[in-house]
Amino acid sequence: MRIDILTIFPEMFGGAEGDSAGPFSSGIIKRAIAAGRVAIHLHDIRDFATDRRRSVDDLPYGGGPGMVLRPEPLVTAIESVPRLEGAARVLLSPQGTQLTQAVARELSALPQIILVCGRYEGVDDRVRQGWIDRELSIGDYVMTGGELAAMVVVDVVARLVPGVVGNAASIDEESHAGGLLEYPQFTRPPSFRGMQVPPVLLSGDHGEIARWRRAQSVELTWRRRPDLLAHSTLSADDRRLLEQLDSAKTKE
Ligand SMILES: C[S@@+](CC[C@H](N)C(=O)[O-])C[C@H]1O[C@@H](n2cnc3c(N)ncnc32)[C@H](O)[C@@H]1O
Repeated sequence: MRIDILTIFPEMFGGAEGDSAGPFSSGIIKRAIAAGRVAIHLHDIRDFATDRRRSVDDLPYGGGPGMVLRPEPLVTAIESVPRLEGAARVLLSPQGTQLTQAVARELSALPQIILVCGRYEGVDDRVRQGWIDRELSIGDYVMTGGELAAMVVVDVVARLVPGVVGNAASIDEESHAGGLLEYPQFTRPPSFRGMQVPPVLLSGDHGEIARWRRAQSVELTWRRRPDLLAHSTLSADDRRLLEQLDSAKTKE
């Protein structure tokens, strides 16, 4: 998958081509880049400014606080990016669709995403109208720029690209993949400061372990994120457990 990032602060990503330490220079994403499964290209929007000061912003028409990213350098920058068939041009924006695991999965199936990072009060709306396919928000809060949001999108999307995470099962089982939160995880030692690993996990009985994990997933989701249950695929056992949890709660 090809990912292009347009920003006025390429140094936040570890330099113009991500060559020094940055968010993609370690762990799974670094390996994905080294293996050629993901290619990340950075574009400095200032390189497309036409004045000596390399300015990219101006005052908002109609008045008001702050500055707005001007359309000329930004559109020239967007148009300079080679576009593969099926590519999506994505504006990071607090007004966009919220990034979820489902949205990330959709994006990971595309050949290319072009991420446009806003700054200041945002981008001239004509850029959004004419050169953007979708807007993505990483949450209901306002950041100073789209760069951190772009890093989040790259991290979430890249790990869903086939082959990036070695064990595909870890993606299928984790939180939000099937609509539920993941069961709790434990590793060695079996006893830590008087706290024990649940005995079922040491039993070697894979059927029992799978049932325990599923029940934990359902209960955890019921306790912490009941809103997710409406969109989860639930078995008859899951529904029975939820009824028990509900009726225990009403008796409290
Ligand atoms: C200070 S914000 C602009 C907010 C804009 N004036 C508004 O009220 O909608 C500057 C830039 O940060 C990015 N940004 C801020 N919050 C974001 C979020 N929650 N998700 C994605 N991008 C965000 C966007 O690229 C935005 O253009």
